[in-house]
Amino acid sequence: ENNELKVGIDKLSFFVPHYYVDMSDLARARHVDKAKFHIGIGQDEMAVSPVTQDIVTFAASAANQILDEQDKALVDLVIVATESSIDESKASAVIVHGLLGIQPFARSIEMKEACYAATAGIASAVDYVRLHPERKALVIASDLAKYGLNSGGEPTQGAGAVAMLISSNPKILFVNDDALTLTQDVYDFWRPTGQTYPSVDGQFSNAVYIESFSRVWDEYAKRTASQFSDFAALAFHTPYTKMGKKALLPKLENETESVKTRLLTQFERAITYNRRIGNLYTGSLYLSLISLLENSETLKAGDKIGLFSYGSGAVAEFYSVELVSGFDQHLKKNEHELLLHQREKLSIRAYEKMFEEKIDLNHNETFSDETPYAISEIKANHRLYRQK
Ligand code: HMG
Repeated sequence: ENNELKVGIDKLSFFVPHYYVDMSDLARARHVDKAKFHIGIGQDEMAVSPVTQDIVTFAASAANQILDEQDKALVDLVIVATESSIDESKASAVIVHGLLGIQPFARSIEMKEACYAATAGIASAVDYVRLHPERKALVIASDLAKYGLNSGGEPTQGAGAVAMLISSNPKILFVNDDALTLTQDVYDFWRPTGQTYPSVDGQFSNAVYIESFSRVWDEYAKRTASQFSDFAALAFHTPYTKMGKKALLPKLENETESVKTRLLTQFERAITYNRRIGNLYTGSLYLSLISLLENSETLKAGDKIGLFSYGSGAVAEFYSVELVSGFDQHLKKNEHELLLHQREKLSIRAYEKMFEEKIDLNHNETFSDETPYAISEIKANHRLYRQK
């Protein structure tokens, strides 16, 4: 009977820090045509984090928007997917679990495989809930994407987190058991232990992404006898918003005009938020999913959405989800628009200064960031967090 149990995303939300850079300003400062950033890369604004925020505070802020007291008593599993960890040993999920006040008898871990890890987190959470349908699991994708000032990747930075509560009989979508995954040992983007910024072979990473989507889709279509026409929409891992489109367009060549128009129109809805935030690494695909759900006017219960997850290194996956009746009543569009609207635009000089600020764990210090979750103090070689 467990095979018939529907498990999926019951609630979801995102958090981004309070600051951003306008990509026209960045283009001017870097002596680049602004059309390259807005059209060529497809980014309008880029989230910037102050030194008093990190993956723990992003994660707690995102999850706090979706959890009520009953959820906190039912969550058995807390997974934080990240490639911006703050510790090689202790999982950020342990701190997040404490900050959120989740019941103590829970399993808290961090997961890694570049931008792919949240997808693995969701798969594990779904498996857990299938076996324990009365319980819940919290999956958070939290990252700080920094490539360095004046670097090739600079216009594709970003910061923030997406939180998703996994349960049986979910209110938003069911996760189908149809994932097709591909692993390839390549060096397109990587960050050796101790290295501050990633090493990246930009054009190669684009090529591996495009090739991975093609291979994964072809194999998925073969094994599940699927076609693009089965999908109401697709959402992609979005390192910058042009990327998914570069992978999708060549695959749509033999499709009918109506399928092409539908998927490309929905693609625009799925990148609305990403255009204003940048790369969230692990959270990018799920930010795109939220963007699609909150900005598309045509999606309805029963619609199938295809998700393409990609993490450099590389692991790629395609799987599908199905919208639940009344899903639109459980989204947080107004809150999300307010969060984006209330941000403060930084001058390039202010962004560069904020970018260079670093936490020094060997130096005790107190901070005055009043955000509900923020680093309040560095003491005895660890970070103390302000609690809401
Ligand atoms: P670049 O060399 O700065 O830019 O690198 P470019 O020369 O390739 O130009 C970019 C686009 O702008 C091109 O579009 C140009 O034509 C266009 P395309 O032809 O490819 O469609 N362009 C213009 N358009 C309009 N007006 C103009 C103009 N000038 C140029 N005047 C790159 C860009 C993305 C490679 C770089 O920013 C980078 O290295 N970023 C980081 C790596 C990355 O995001 N890779 C994506 C795939 S890998 C991935 O998704 C995984 C990742 O998220 C990490 C993880 O998994 O953990 C990154």
